[in-house]
Amino acid sequence: MEMEKRVIERAKDLESYIIEKRRDFHQNPELRFEEVRTSQIVEEELKNLGYEVKRTAGTGVVALLDGGKGGKTVALRADMDALPVEEENDVPYKSKVPGKMHACGHDAHTAMLLGAAKILSEIREELKGKVKLIFQPAEEGGAGAKKVVEEGHVDDIDAIFGIHVWAHIPSGVIATRRGPFMASSDGYVIKIRGKGGHAASPHLAIDPTNPATDIYNALQKIVSRYVNPLYPVVISTPVLKGSQGYNVIPDEAEITGTLRTFDMEVRERIIKKIQDIVKGYSMAWDCEGSFELFRVSYPPTVNTPELADFAIEVAKDLGPVTEAEMTMGAEDFAFYLQKVKGAFIFLGVRNEEKGIIYPHHHPRFNVDEEVLWKGTALYALLAYRYLRDR
Ligand code: NI
Repeated sequence: MEMEKRVIERAKDLESYIIEKRRDFHQNPELRFEEVRTSQIVEEELKNLGYEVKRTAGTGVVALLDGGKGGKTVALRADMDALPVEEENDVPYKSKVPGKMHACGHDAHTAMLLGAAKILSEIREELKGKVKLIFQPAEEGGAGAKKVVEEGHVDDIDAIFGIHVWAHIPSGVIATRRGPFMASSDGYVIKIRGKGGHAASPHLAIDPTNPATDIYNALQKIVSRYVNPLYPVVISTPVLKGSQGYNVIPDEAEITGTLRTFDMEVRERIIKKIQDIVKGYSMAWDCEGSFELFRVSYPPTVNTPELADFAIEVAKDLGPVTEAEMTMGAEDFAFYLQKVKGAFIFLGVRNEEKGIIYPHHHPRFNVDEEVLWKGTALYALLAYRYLRDR
């Protein structure tokens, strides 16, 4: 218990360092695969602490700390990318880059893991194994984790842990769950090609918006009529594109949306059904329909049950712990969990008194900085205890 106390006290000591780093990253946000400045700072800090540092996925950094006693290797992961969002917070550390903002809290993750890197380097002699830190780029739609995995950086690790600050949980509360945690995510685009013309003469054109509306409605029936009601699924189609003019029938109509599930077989089945719907309705109205996945698909994030239990056990030293609800949001941490055992964990950062109430990706998203030291302590404790106990 002595070492745990020491780690926690040290994380509290590092609070101002963690907040300072978080604010620096917050003011200088970088989008996916553009994390040049952020990764340089990370790389320099880690080298100074004695880590063996490598580059990954272009703008990512992987760092190894060897306790020198053999044993297992545990990985800790933070993501570093920001979002194309214009910040609306009125804070002294507001984003300096127009149209870019750390609206998901990845600035906090990077800062928390840098704090843990310091602590772990200080207790290096006490580590019964190796710690690998993964500062990855491009979590937001770029599947940076997939690249890190493909480059072999998790081939030699025994377990991995990741933390995400979470706006839907009270500040300071730590939450995770066994098994399926976050959903898979696909982005799809449906194109229906007809023949444009004057809206006053629909019989001389082939109006693609006609099957498009049938397809839109048919998609809504997949969840209610085709999927086992015990399996959570979301099909959202927020983008509909047709003509620009009230009197113009367009050549083409477009439907863009996202599919979320927790089960890859259910996902496959739904994709097949969407393809059938697109083809069938398009053909019925003399159009040509196509279906395409336009971004890298994220698999569901599924925690290893015993490591979720372990994370809960470790987190108890830091205050309240609760079982997280499943969420239809997605995470590329899923790619690590396809290869290695591990757990993804939420750290609550919602503080109504401070007005920190906005959801992730919102222009007024923020985190309660007062609890970031807990993220640092949790990272360090997970690594220390995993190596000690396993
Ligand atoms: Ni995020």
